[in-house]
This record gives sequence, structure tokens and C-alpha cells, in this order.
Amino acid sequence: MAQRSSISPADVVWSIAQPSNLDAVIAIEEQSFPTPWSRAALGAYMGEEGFEVCAYQGRLVGYILAGLQIPSLLDRLERLTMSFLGSEKPAELVGHVMNLAVHPDFRGCGLGRSLLQRSLSYLKELGASRVDLEVRVHNSTAIRLYESEGFAIRQLLKGYYQNGDDAFLMSKPKV
Ligand SMILES: CC(C)(COP(=O)(O)OP(=O)(O)OC[C@H]1O[C@@H](n2cnc3c(N)ncnc32)[C@H](O)[C@@H]1OP(=O)(O)O)[C@@H](O)C(=O)NCCC(=O)NCCS
Repeated sequence: MAQRSSISPADVVWSIAQPSNLDAVIAIEEQSFPTPWSRAALGAYMGEEGFEVCAYQGRLVGYILAGLQIPSLLDRLERLTMSFLGSEKPAELVGHVMNLAVHPDFRGCGLGRSLLQRSLSYLKELGASRVDLEVRVHNSTAIRLYESEGFAIRQLLKGYYQNGDDAFLMSKPKV
């Protein structure tokens, strides 16, 4: 805990998560969530552009995973029907922040906000007009961070997590 608040986002090195980072990501994941993602689930995204990590003096201290959502079947059917009727519904690209965590010893230094802001820029570059994410209803730290970055609670998702915890669906309407 001694290192808390002694570093700033300017002190870390940013990169795309590589398979060699998997153990360190899992270690943070397991200290951060009651129902951590599995090795297989996290491993599947290694090397993806939307999986960014940050390291301080060679030690991985945080990560974020985000990407574009695949449109739902309902959305695709609606667009298809409208195109048959001669009116095009413009496709809305929706970004999704799937995971975000900072090592407990390095929280409160601005890394979570920097990871989120970098991810939002990446999703904007991909063309996302809105970004969604889910967060445990009792995770006031994360909710405060998201609200300060323009997200608002849109929906309560009862029993969303594996252990039965409820989530809020939060959205940032303009990226
Ligand atoms: C949520 C999390 C990623 C934030 O990362 P962080 O590096 O500590 O956050 P930052 O230092 O960038 O702080 C960003 C904002 O978060 C909020 N925050 C951070 N620490 C806080 C605390 N101890 N209490 C209340 N709010 C806090 C504040 O709004 C802060 O903004 P401010 O410094 O302008 O007041 C981190 O706490 C974490 O990894 N938590 C466990 C995993 C998790 O909950 N992930 C989110 C899943 S949806």
C-alpha cells in the first residue's frame, strides 16, 4: 500500500495485452472481483487492440478490455425490415467496456480514469456513438468514476453476475 498515490498516469507504460501478461492480469482480476473472469475468458482476448494494459517499472498494474458490440438479432431484423420498406435505419455502433481493474496497491492514482479515457478514445476511433458497460450496484467507486466520465445509469439488471449480484447498465450517450 506504500506506493499508493505515489505514481501518476504519466509514469506508466501503455501497451496491448500480450499472452505473457496473462498471469499478471489474472492476479489483479482475482483481487478485484467476487466472480473473476476465467483464464480461458481473459486469454481469448490477449493481443486484441481493445485490451490495453499499463505497467509501472515493468510490473503490470492495470488493464481495460473494450470493443464494439455485435448488433442484436432484433436490431439486424429491424434494419432489414426497414430496408425492405425503403427506409434505411442508420446503423448505430455501440462500444462496450467489458472489464477494467487496477492493482489494489495502485488505486487512487488516476490509472482507472486514464484507462477508461484511452478506451473511450479507441472506441470513438472505431466509430462508436454510444458506450455501454455493466457495474455491480454496490461498486460506488466505479460508479462515481463512470458518472464523472459522462456515463449514466440506464437500467437495473437483476442477478446479472454469476453469484447473483445485481448490475446497473450504464451508458455514455455521446463518445
Ligand atoms: C474502479 C477502479 C478501476 C478505479 O481505478 P483507480 O485507478 O483507483 O481510479 P482513479 O484513481 O482513476 O480515480 C477515478 C475516480 O474513481 C473514484 N474513486 C477512486 N477511488 C475512490 C475511493 N477510494 N472512494 C471513492 N471513489 C473513488 C473517484 O471518482 C475518482 O475520481 P477523483 O480522483 O477525481 O475523485 C479500481 O477501484 C478497481 O480496480 N476496482 C476493482 C475492480 C472494479 O471495480 N472495476 C470496475 C468494474 S465495473
